[in-house]
Amino acid sequence: MTERALLGIDVGTSGTKVLLVSESGKVLARHTEEYEMYQPKNGWAEQDPADWWDATAKGIKAVIAETGMAPASVGLSGQMHGLVMLDSSGDVLRRSIIWCDQRTEAEVEDMERILGRQRIIEITANPPMTGFTAAKILWVKKNEPEIYEKCAHILLPKDYIRYRLTGEFATEVSDASGMQLMDVAGRQWSGEVLAKLGIEASMLASMYESEELTGKVTKEAAGATGLAEGTPVAGGAGDNPAAAIGTGVVSEGRAFTTVGSSAVIYAVSDEVRIDMQGRVHSLCASVPGKWTVMSCTQGAGLSLQWLRNNVCNAERQEAERLGVSAYDLMGKLAEGVPPGSDKLLFLPYLMGERSPHPDPDCRGVFFGLSARHGKANLIRSVIEGVSFSQLECLNVFREMGVSVGDMIMTGGGAASPLWRQLLADLYECPVSTLEANEGAALGAAILGGVAAGIYSSCAEGCEAHITRGAAVAPDAGMRLAYEPYYQLYRKLYHSLRDDFKTLAKIEA
Ligand code: XUL
Repeated sequence: MTERALLGIDVGTSGTKVLLVSESGKVLARHTEEYEMYQPKNGWAEQDPADWWDATAKGIKAVIAETGMAPASVGLSGQMHGLVMLDSSGDVLRRSIIWCDQRTEAEVEDMERILGRQRIIEITANPPMTGFTAAKILWVKKNEPEIYEKCAHILLPKDYIRYRLTGEFATEVSDASGMQLMDVAGRQWSGEVLAKLGIEASMLASMYESEELTGKVTKEAAGATGLAEGTPVAGGAGDNPAAAIGTGVVSEGRAFTTVGSSAVIYAVSDEVRIDMQGRVHSLCASVPGKWTVMSCTQGAGLSLQWLRNNVCNAERQEAERLGVSAYDLMGKLAEGVPPGSDKLLFLPYLMGERSPHPDPDCRGVFFGLSARHGKANLIRSVIEGVSFSQLECLNVFREMGVSVGDMIMTGGGAASPLWRQLLADLYECPVSTLEANEGAALGAAILGGVAAGIYSSCAEGCEAHITRGAAVAPDAGMRLAYEPYYQLYRKLYHSLRDDFKTLAKIEA
């Protein structure tokens, strides 16, 4: 029998990746299309759902053209928490307010007042969060009532792509639990939260498990993408729960760190575990009957991208000339700087922060800048600052009794040898990568394969696709060298917290 091809789509923040794999685990083709993120005000972040759809359609056409194969199934993954609002004809009403937008401090206070912090945590497994979708819905309701009035459907980013592919308004538990409208233990919408927040249940999508079939490609979508009409589309998962499948993190004790635009540590648990301080999130996992604890550092790769775009022009030009990534050249520069970046510390709060400091007002900081420092110090301190944030988060997991003996690193950051070693040293455990660093898109493709009956379970799909790469061992000496910097890093947020608030209040 000829091998079937499985399509995975990841609607990311910097671009949409479309991946085609064979059922036995070969990567057949991949295509990424980039698009804009709009920041009309400090702390705001928006994207145009039409850009996601154009990028998806282009990507699907490209992988089909490259291989000449018709995918047998589609799985979706995407950036979590984003708010997409459609009118009754299915047209987009406003740009999507995406995951890293922090405009909703007042709405979070409203949620606490209306429902009570304790009750919100009991039901949604998380304290009210500025980044989660519920607060964004309340923001539109309050600030753009004419848009809310017209809103008939609320979707998450990847679920908008599902709507364009299948015509169905559907979502699945892993991404939906990041909306803060779900009873996370019961894996369904919470009637109580919806009623108290005044959000009509009819606006929300039908709920599925990640591996379930949610619809089939329509004739119109087939025309736009080159997919065959009737191709099955799985629930899929938020990008992190999808990356969990794509890295084989499907049972308790396993965890991964992904360093993409954001940095996430994700561990699977057999039961719902909650941090009452809200330093990390609890969500439904993309595997039926499992949950997850997850941290999110908002500005990870995003901080390095900011440095690349604003400071490392020479590296960008040189990288273009050599046909390599500017990040490789930046990493080489950073390798020449000692641990602690010659006493330069970076707090990665360029987009406010979520884990372990849920605080929309905090800002990025270079601490200890000296005339001796150059570009290489800035680069290394950004990489170190993002990594210190990961250690702070992992220590919260450890406090919660979530054991992590087995860390996989994925995302763009995993391509950096410096970053892999740094995480191993700080975590004090081996960090392994995967032979194919396809992450969320691969997880989505596997979920599609399960929904189409190609695999009997995610575990069987993971078996076919995932091969561990080499592990880097922690270096205890380096851990000691980082310790005084890490302790100072931890202290700095607390020292500056009130000053961040003061800065936020200055009218500019
Ligand atoms: C997770 C989160 C981010 C986005 C980025 O809570 O907000 O990881 O999913 O893609």
